[in-house]
Amino acid sequence: MGSITTTTTTTTPGIGKISTRPALIPADVPALGAIGRAAFGYSSRLLFPNAEPSDPSTQQDEVRWRGARLVARVKNGNVAFVAVTTEPSAENGQDQEVIVGVAQWKVPAKHEAKWKELWNTEWDEAGKIPPSMDITKFDELMGIIAREEKKILDEQGLGEDLQTLAAHPDYKRRGIGTTLLQWGIDQAKADKANVFLTATAEGKHLYERQGFVQLAEYDVGGYPHFGMMWFYRSEGEPAN
Ligand SMILES: CC(C)(COP(=O)(O)OP(=O)(O)OC[C@H]1O[C@@H](n2cnc3c(N)ncnc32)[C@H](O)[C@@H]1OP(=O)(O)O)[C@@H](O)C(=O)NCCC(=O)NCCS
Repeated sequence: MGSITTTTTTTTPGIGKISTRPALIPADVPALGAIGRAAFGYSSRLLFPNAEPSDPSTQQDEVRWRGARLVARVKNGNVAFVAVTTEPSAENGQDQEVIVGVAQWKVPAKHEAKWKELWNTEWDEAGKIPPSMDITKFDELMGIIAREEKKILDEQGLGEDLQTLAAHPDYKRRGIGTTLLQWGIDQAKADKANVFLTATAEGKHLYERQGFVQLAEYDVGGYPHFGMMWFYRSEGEPAN
């Protein structure tokens, strides 16, 4: 995983230069939580039934909780955390960097120390469940996903594992999802590892386009989810 602390930059029509860089906690956390809330609207409706549309503080509670959840994973495990950002330009009308996409990857333990060093910081919100949230529903839905994931991982063995991937809705269909996914595939190739993920219906095509295959389909709170894997092959090895 040679490039974890570096930034790579490409040019994207309409938004100018986009960069891929490690997400740096705590400064990035509110933006990452906000992307989670904006991108996963269906889960907001399921998990935050008590949020008041007219009360912005309940929305902020959700943003904080989503950010804290990502941080908790960094603190508790070997996780790599990548952001896609835009650079300020006349083309996009921005005067500062904006985080437009995020992915979090579970990576082999050999990388753990490096990532922990990057994010060696305190974030005490992690355990706090906002009053607008239905924690019973959350446990129920996460239980379904964990059970289905375990079935596949028991069979396939552990590879690198995508834990979240989202592009801000205002920046969809500009290659941000593909950039975040490619980052993880590049690391998996370097580690000679397979990649596992749970896809939403919206994300499924992105993963199929990059060679992931569907191993399971199941319902989570009325929404289809897909267990998918990308299998590492050395260069020159046939696809099947
Ligand atoms: C799924 C998701 C991550 C895709 O992100 P994205 O940034 O829009 O993805 P990309 O832009 O890389 O690819 C999406 C499509 O845009 C196309 N595209 C990429 N760059 C483009 C450009 N510059 N101009 C036009 N189209 C473009 C891609 O070819 C792709 O098309 P296809 O699906 O027909 O093949 C995003 O919609 C999202 O966050 N959804 C909600 C959260 C979610 O479901 N996440 C997945 C969890 S597993």
